[in-house]
Formats: sequence, structure tokens, C-alpha cells
Amino acid sequence: MIIGALGMLGHDLQKVFPGAELFDVVGDNLLDITDENMVMETVEAVQPDVVINAAAYTDVDGCEDNAGLSLKVNGEALANIAKACHKMGAKLVHYSTDYIFDGKKQEYVESDIPNPINAYGVSKLLGEKNIQDNMDDYCIIRTSWLFGKNGKNFIETMLALSEKMDTVNVVNDQFGKPTYAADLARKTKELIDLDPGIYHITNEGVCSWYEFASAAIPNTVPCSSEEFIRKAKRPKYSILVNTKTNPMRHWKDALTDYLKEKKT
Ligand SMILES: NC(=O)c1ccc[n+]([C@@H]2O[C@H](COP(=O)([O-])OP(=O)(O)OC[C@H]3O[C@@H](n4cnc5c(N)ncnc54)[C@H](OP(=O)(O)O)[C@@H]3O)[C@@H](O)[C@H]2O)c1
Repeated sequence: MIIGALGMLGHDLQKVFPGAELFDVVGDNLLDITDENMVMETVEAVQPDVVINAAAYTDVDGCEDNAGLSLKVNGEALANIAKACHKMGAKLVHYSTDYIFDGKKQEYVESDIPNPINAYGVSKLLGEKNIQDNMDDYCIIRTSWLFGKNGKNFIETMLALSEKMDTVNVVNDQFGKPTYAADLARKTKELIDLDPGIYHITNEGVCSWYEFASAAIPNTVPCSSEEFIRKAKRPKYSILVNTKTNPMRHWKDALTDYLKEKKT
């Protein structure tokens, strides 16, 4: 069972798990994860072995203005899903984020203590806690800087700006690890059979947003975070280190595939 199946990652999960039953807050198979009864009734009806939850409120700046909604969708709703999975004996796979960390350390392993600095991070951390408080057989996958064929993402934005503008200013003082949604979806299949717990899964390679953009478009200009003010604070460093499983390929190789695939 895949929840959030119509999102960016959800679309790639559909390809990896072709037999899954698909749900989202829009579309034919409606499931609002904030509705406790609806979640329980749906999971009882589907009787899944594994529930993969890719549903989330992912607008990081939007979460600052709508902190209540982000806590509901990214935080409280995970108790609904975890309780239903626990009752039905299903494994829960869920995605969390590098933004649960404050960026004061450069690199973060799975056991590092979270300390979010924006509303999105606070809500995603609550989601992790609600899973851990309500069930044991979970796989929480923390990932970062997702880009994929079926959703609004940073590279998409850069390609559009590059066409419209002579130069594109991009911050050069925030560092992380880009992750291709198709790679993450494939890796998810492998993780289901591993021990329950928290996993840090990204493509390999660290870069700034400026370096990431420059790999896709020619007309970038570096700038600082002070010159490019956003509603939500972002951690300076949010480099997730995977200490538990095989690494995925370098983000530059994944980006090459993504750009090729976009043209087809
Ligand atoms: N994108 C990133 O850079 C990034 C980085 C780190 C971690 N993650 C995590 O990775 C996961 C997948 O992200 P994504 O970028 O693929 O997300 P996405 O494209 O925004 O997809 C999320 C899906 O969840 C749906 N949804 C929203 N509220 C819901 C609700 N109450 N009930 C059921 N479905 C609901 C959304 O529908 P609507 O579009 O109609 O709202 C959308 O189809 C999320 O857990 C996210 O936090 C993402």
C-alpha cells in the first residue's frame, strides 16, 4: 500500500511496486492521513504487508505560515498510520528529512540528536516520534534534496529560471546531498527486508545549492543566504551519512539520467 502515491516520490514508488494499492489526498483512491478513522478503515480493508507513506506537506516555507497544518500532516497523522499498521501487523516505511537537524555539525549519522530550526523540521520530527511511540516494525528513511521526474523540485525551478533570466542567483553557503527520487524508490525495496530502524539514504556526494544548480544550467551566479532571504531558516550543513547499508551512486550520475529522462 502506497500513501502519497501521486507525489514526486510516490510516482517513482509506483514503478518499483507495481502491485501496490495507491492512495492520496486527491484522485480516485482518496485517503486523508489526518483522518484517524479513515486511515484505520482503509488499512483494515487493504490488509497490506507493508505500508509506504510518501504523503507529506512538503512546502518548507509554507510550513512557517501553516505550522498547524504541517504538524497535523507531517506529525500527528503518523500516529494514525502507525496505530493502524501495528493493529494489522504491517511494516511501515516512512520518509523523513535532513531538516530535523540544525546544521551546526557538518555531518549527521542516524543516531545523532535532532534539533530542527524550522516548522517543517519540527513537524517531521514529531512524525518520527509518533511512529516510534506506536509500533516497532518501522523503517524511517531520512533523505534530502529530492529531485524527480514527477514533481516540482529545485532542478525544475532552475531550468525554468535559466530560460527566463540572463543569470540565476543561487546560494553557495548551504551544503547537502541531492537525491534522485527514482534511486530512492528502488533503494526502498531493499530496505524493507532490513532490520527496523532509522536509515539515512541519499545519493553520494556533497555540494552547495549553487554547485547543484550549476550541474544543470549554465548561467548561475553564487550568492549568500543573507542575500536570498527565505521564510524558513535552512541548516547550513545537512549532510546525512549512511552507516547502515550500501551507498547509492553519485548525485551527478543520477542528475545526468534525470536530465536525459526529462527529454523523453
Ligand atoms: N522534496 C524534498 O526535497 C524532500 C527532502 C527530504 C525529505 N522529503 C520527504 O520525502 C517524502 C516525499 O516527498 P515528495 O517531495 O515526493 O512530496 P510531494 O511531491 O509533495 O508529495 C506528497 C504527496 O502527499 C499528498 N498529501 C498531502 N497531504 C496529505 C494528506 N493529508 N493525506 C494524504 N496525502 C497527502 C500530497 O498531495 P497534494 O500535492 O495534493 O498536497 C502529495 O501528493 C515526504 O515525506 C517528504 O517529507 C522530501
